Amino acid sequence: MEDRMISGEQTEQEEIIELSLRPDKLAQYIGQNTAKENLSIFIEAAKLRDEPLDHVLLYGPPGLGKTTLASIIANEMGVQFRTTSGPAIERSGDLAAILSSLEAGDVLFIDEIHRLPRAVEEVLYPAMEDFCLDIVIGTGSTARSVRLDLPPFTLVGATTRAGLLSAPLRDRFGVLSRLEYYDVASLTEIVERTATIFDVEIDQEAAVEVARRSRGTPRIANRLLKRVRDISQVQREKAISMRTTQKALEMLQVDQTGLDHIDHKLLLSIIDSFQGGPVGLDTLSATIGEESQTIEDVYEPFLLQEGFIQRTPRGRIATDKAFNHFGRSKNDESS
Ligand SMILES: Nc1ncnc2c1ncn2[C@@H]1O[C@H](COP(=O)(O)OP(=O)(O)O)[C@@H](O)[C@H]1O
Ligand SMILES: [Mg+2]
Repeated sequence: MEDRMISGEQTEQEEIIELSLRPDKLAQYIGQNTAKENLSIFIEAAKLRDEPLDHVLLYGPPGLGKTTLASIIANEMGVQFRTTSGPAIERSGDLAAILSSLEAGDVLFIDEIHRLPRAVEEVLYPAMEDFCLDIVIGTGSTARSVRLDLPPFTLVGATTRAGLLSAPLRDRFGVLSRLEYYDVASLTEIVERTATIFDVEIDQEAAVEVARRSRGTPRIANRLLKRVRDISQVQREKAISMRTTQKALEMLQVDQTGLDHIDHKLLLSIIDSFQGGPVGLDTLSATIGEESQTIEDVYEPFLLQEGFIQRTPRGRIATDKAFNHFGRSKNDESS
């Protein structure tokens, strides 16, 4: 995939910086009020009963705070946070090893849980339901299955779309929480908080500008802020100004609404190559050279929410808003 300023996906280098930006209490976790309120009730109830929290599934586009929220859950419960990911667990034995190393109450976080191999997933069912492992000992006619008890634990799974999970796995989560794109006010708060951690000052209007152009995504807001800060520092500004912010965002090819050159490519492809659509996902993917799944998980959700595209049974169509964004008109034969 092309290096994309606006992609919600995390780069390796970012992982280290993000650790320092990660709030560790629910109260410092900005926005996502529905998810936050529900979780705080469930956490409090579990603590009162002195039981582990029910298994939690967090889903939503990359960069919205799923990993952050998972680590906050562990922290609020006062337990260890153990992390792994779907693609990292190749064999059922790997998962069995992780599960049997857990301590009572621990939070086991499985990122990209939809990518767990099927055979591994099956080990998870009895573990989630009855806190036990079914292990087959021996082979052939002497093979027998033994049941091992596990300490009670909380599984927190994260995925970009709940629909990517198999139904039996999804059904075993007691709490399903969808993370939403952030509004400008919440993102502004996040930008200001990050600026404080970076130890830089930012003018209020500049913070709002970064927030406005971050596709509703904290990871992107933090990433843009970092680049804007660099430019501001080189200019020896005392506080990051609106002018520098706008200039920096222009350099980064992020437009007024936060769309970048890949969004442009996607929308213009529908408008120009397919007369506004409808066009099927796979055709679109081949035309712009991005994977279908990436288009669906990373790029489209925001374009759909902001009303630039619509999904119909026959494919994606560009809306009037998309045509207007590029100064085109739907009936403009010359375009
Ligand atoms: N609600 C929030 N409040 C403050 N910062 C947040 C919030 N959500 C996410 N962030 C920050 O955004 C970055 C990306 O969040 P992360 O949890 O890694 O997203 P995801 O796991 O959904 O891809 C992290 O640096 C995190 O600190
Ligand atoms: Mg994550």
